[in-house]
Amino acid sequence: SHLKAWRAAIVHCIADPKDVGIEAAYEYFEDGLLVIQDDKIHALGNAKDLLSKLPDNTPVEHYPDAIIAPGFIDTHIHYPQTDMIGSYGEQLLTWLNTYTFPEEGKFCDKDHARNVADRFLNELLRNGTTTALVFGTVHKVSVEAFFEACEVHNLRMICGKVMMDRNAPEYLTDTPETGYQESKELIEAWHNKGRLHYAITPRFAPTSSDEQLQLAGKLLSEYDDVYMHTHLSENKDECAWVQDLFPASTHYLDVYDQHKLLSQRSVFAHGIHLCDNEYHRLHETGSAISFCPTSNLFIGSGLFKLNKAEEYKVNVGLGTDVGGGTSFSMLQTMNEAYKVIQLQNENLNPIKSLYLSTLGGARALRLEDKIGNLAVGSEADFIILDKKATPLLSSRLALSKNIEESLFVLMTIGDDRAIQATYSAGKCVHQR
Ligand code: GUN
Ligand code: FE
Repeated sequence: SHLKAWRAAIVHCIADPKDVGIEAAYEYFEDGLLVIQDDKIHALGNAKDLLSKLPDNTPVEHYPDAIIAPGFIDTHIHYPQTDMIGSYGEQLLTWLNTYTFPEEGKFCDKDHARNVADRFLNELLRNGTTTALVFGTVHKVSVEAFFEACEVHNLRMICGKVMMDRNAPEYLTDTPETGYQESKELIEAWHNKGRLHYAITPRFAPTSSDEQLQLAGKLLSEYDDVYMHTHLSENKDECAWVQDLFPASTHYLDVYDQHKLLSQRSVFAHGIHLCDNEYHRLHETGSAISFCPTSNLFIGSGLFKLNKAEEYKVNVGLGTDVGGGTSFSMLQTMNEAYKVIQLQNENLNPIKSLYLSTLGGARALRLEDKIGNLAVGSEADFIILDKKATPLLSSRLALSKNIEESLFVLMTIGDDRAIQATYSAGKCVHQR
């Protein structure tokens, strides 16, 4: 058998803190052992208990100054916006027209798309993100280039071609029919190929006609397990525009609902300005929200109401939303999430943050039987966090009293430098 083991402190979530409380939501092994067989997790526990049970020749890598955790799951990101991160001074609608659309126009060229996809994946992996739900552009080749790049590393990734047939430059639009047809071809070619999945991806309500949304809903109904990925209620001007464009809708989510786009595999980015009925429908349909704090602050969109989502039992994951977001780092995304919740006079416990960026993300994506924690049988997607990555981390973590405090410090002052190594399906895909 192909056993390999890693010895270090190990932490992972096993439940949602809102269901079981903080203490019962995670497992922590101060001197732990993670045993991998091929691409799956074979055993997890205390090193003292497990080491004696391993065959003598099993390789063991020992990291006395590290914490092993599950790979991060980014539930909303745009790979074609990699090179326009940090674009200055605008809110959503002008940001799209000024910076985003011209950048996305470049992805008609497959060589350009592949070049960006390779650099994008490199950024994800060096930040410890092993799975993401990813926007392409309107161009079919953008998604082909992305999936081909993912296949090289055997990553579990979800992507889709943007559908957009109005209120955008002509060079970035499809039609209801070509959007449907090209998406279908991509599903047939890529969905469930290895560890890849497809997401039907209407950009957001303002850039699709009724006809396009209706065909997107039809396509979703034609497959059991494809995803639907879009934006929802991010910005006040956007919300007012949606009311103008779809006067028959009772609220923003209703536009998607009327076109049968709510499902257990539907993920809506942002969801900031929602009414109670919208939370209720998201819950009823098993849809999820991706909370994108760095983007919501940077584009000035608003503060996500995690308490409302929890009250209505809506699945929530964490997303970077690069290039509206300002960092590929899920640690830095947790840092900003904490502050967004602080500004609403609540607290975000570090175990909850860890949950949102691992098991919670996996649940939002209906992948919790495969990824999201280090349970035996799960795919071996994990990271090694270096407690001595920087002088400040080293001195600060030396004073931390327990794993909760250590995690909180890591997600407050940590970033890509803290990711010593990233493993996907048991293989090292990044080493610092
Ligand atoms: N809404 C529609 N398109 C986009 C996009 O590219 N980024 C963000 N943050 N919101 C959007
Ligand atoms: Fe986005």
